[in-house]
Amino acid sequence: MVNRREFLTSIAAAASAAGSSTTARPSGAMSSSAASSSRAVAGNPAALAINGGKPVRETPLWASECGMGTEFYDDKERGRLGDVVASRNPFRWYGPGPEPPMQCATFEKEFSERMQGRYVLGVTSGTAALQVAMAALGVGPGDEVILPAWTWYSSYNAIVLAGALPVFAESDKSLNIDPEDIEHRITPQTKAIMAVHLEGCPCDMDRILPIARKHGIKVLEDCAQSAGASYKGKPLGAIGDIAIYSFQLCKTITSGEGGCVVTGDPILFERACRFHDLGPLRPQLEKQLGGQKVSAFAGTNFRMSEFTGGVLVAQLRKLDSIVAALRANGRRVYEGLRDLPDPHFRLVSDPDGDLAERVYLEFPTKQLRDRYIEAMKAENVPAGPPNGSVILPIDPMVENKVTAHPAWPSFTTPRGRAIRYGAEACPRTIDILNRFASVGIDPKFTQHDTEDIATAINKVYPVILQA
Ligand SMILES: Cc1ncc(COP(=O)(O)O)c(C=O)c1O
Repeated sequence: MVNRREFLTSIAAAASAAGSSTTARPSGAMSSSAASSSRAVAGNPAALAINGGKPVRETPLWASECGMGTEFYDDKERGRLGDVVASRNPFRWYGPGPEPPMQCATFEKEFSERMQGRYVLGVTSGTAALQVAMAALGVGPGDEVILPAWTWYSSYNAIVLAGALPVFAESDKSLNIDPEDIEHRITPQTKAIMAVHLEGCPCDMDRILPIARKHGIKVLEDCAQSAGASYKGKPLGAIGDIAIYSFQLCKTITSGEGGCVVTGDPILFERACRFHDLGPLRPQLEKQLGGQKVSAFAGTNFRMSEFTGGVLVAQLRKLDSIVAALRANGRRVYEGLRDLPDPHFRLVSDPDGDLAERVYLEFPTKQLRDRYIEAMKAENVPAGPPNGSVILPIDPMVENKVTAHPAWPSFTTPRGRAIRYGAEACPRTIDILNRFASVGIDPKFTQHDTEDIATAINKVYPVILQA
């Protein structure tokens, strides 16, 4: 079984190779002078463990890179699953049980309350939610959608599956889309900008929204990685025209698979409902919308099951406590770093809204970044390169514009044929991602764990920068 970190290791290696000619020192290798100094410093807590000093921790710190929601599974999730079995209503619209199915409807209602009353539609995954959002926005052949170079495959795939053309903008030191790099990529064909809030860190929406409004372009917030985060007091997903969430394993709350679409626009909502469920509108949704305003069009089946809905009701009710624990742990680490000389952290557009899922540091070169990762590992406080997304323009599938059918409309228009992906499409993104490293924060960390993270960073970062 390969988890996302392992799955992405090969891709990260390819990204590094594309963006830097520097070779990382092989793990564990030590020069002879380093070996002799390591004998001198053995057991010294101030000396780096990689040089033979005493590690900050006896055993490696473990953070749940994927599945923090499952750390909070208990009788609430079990009870909801049992209720679905007992009710004999696993399908969300009707069933043989005496009572109407209510799990998905309850989840949508409670999520809508968090989204300041916007419409919420549960679907089978975040990827499905993105496809639904594309259909809701009417994105199709001949249209262009701007997305960040560093994000998950689903963001790109949804654009291609709609038959439209993905246009990459650079990611900046927030590791999110660079607002400065959006406007010059807008053409008369641009239909939407995808603001992907990665790893709980909000995009700079105050700079993105005016650009979109000026050009009459819709903003899609991809909040897949950011359930519970906000931007200047507004929940992510309640800022742009339409938004999506994912509840796959690696997200703040999880039902294994699952997702939802959020919008304040009844027409977009009706289009989303129709596309996610074959085309006709279910009576419950028609009632919610107060009638039909959109003609039926061919849709798919991305309906959420009642089992998924039930687990999500239980998880959603825990979201505030999961987020509070995560932020408290992140804050403790940052407080422990207040005396770190000249730290270069990830840029955060709204620290109060950020989930503080990871503590990122920037290095002047990839070589120093890789040395930091090795040194932190030796301290038993593992750090790693940016993870959980892909530098899409250099992924072979993207670079070579490979589609399920050679005549796919995304790449058969003059713009589609002319557009070039590859490293030349995102040199700044590649450079930035080669120079950042992070330590993951877990909501279940103890005070001792967060102190160890701060101790290790305080110990390692200045030494690496002096090298
Ligand atoms: C940014 C982003 N968008 C969309 C998705 C798709 O979500 P799912 O895995 O539920 O299909 C993911 C999944 O990790 C993601 O990270």
